[in-house]
Amino acid sequence: MLEMKAVKKIYDREVLKVEHLVLTKGYVYGIIGPSGSGKSTLLRIINLLTRPSSGELLFKGRPAPLNGGERLALQRKMAHVFQKPLLFKDSVWNNVAYGLKARSFPRAIIKERVDALLEQVGMKALAFRRADTLSGGEAQRVALARAVAFEPELLLLDEPTANLDPGNIELIEEIITNLARAKEITVIMVTHNIFQARRIADQVIFINQGKVVEMGPTEKIFNEPLEDSTRRFVEGRMVY
Ligand SMILES: Nc1ncnc2c1ncn2[C@@H]1O[C@H](COP(=O)(O)OP(=O)(O)OP(=O)(O)O)[C@@H](O)[C@H]1O
Ligand SMILES: [Mg+2]
Repeated sequence: MLEMKAVKKIYDREVLKVEHLVLTKGYVYGIIGPSGSGKSTLLRIINLLTRPSSGELLFKGRPAPLNGGERLALQRKMAHVFQKPLLFKDSVWNNVAYGLKARSFPRAIIKERVDALLEQVGMKALAFRRADTLSGGEAQRVALARAVAFEPELLLLDEPTANLDPGNIELIEEIITNLARAKEITVIMVTHNIFQARRIADQVIFINQGKVVEMGPTEKIFNEPLEDSTRRFVEGRMVY
């Protein structure tokens, strides 16, 4: 599905260096790592929002187009829920319908899907509220509904439940898991919550100081990590 080769991102210093990473279709990947380790940068590179300073990014074996119409076409197969959800100053309903309208889905399908999703994320009652009046947690749920409405091939989630209470976290996790299973959507989720990674990821990627320290099946990363820093991190201890 996705392959990265010698990908580096340099701002004032090197913030990300991925030697080789291969992600497979239909899996849920959890990215964990300390603050500032490069997790959001990695997601932005995958979504072609940030251009790597060097290296190669391949989608289904083909180099990712970094400009123009082809780049946009590829971006349209992906959905990104940002760490700070960005909603349009429009109704909740129109926010969720946006991606479907942009992809010219038939009206009846748009209505059906948007209504069903708002129900699923518990936002039906607020369908006609302006999105800029929502609480943080409500906005996050709408952002997720909007992201998954068009059934992307790749769903990129950056701390999708950071502002939510436990009940809502469970709901969102269920939606993510169901989508991945039923629709074979590949999910890459950044989370600070190692328990969340353990609950829903098939594979966990541990990033520290811009480098992929270790990647493997979730239970292996939690129970028998190869690296000492991974062990310290999953045990909730400090990592330097
Ligand atoms: N546009 C930018 N210009 C300069 N430095 C940047 C830029 N974007 C990110 N960085 C730096 O790159 C490093 C990695 O940032 P990134 O946002 O990827 O971290 P993160 O792992 O997502 O952290 P957090 O868990 O706090 O969200 C940080 O030191 C950050 O300050
Ligand atoms: Mg981040």
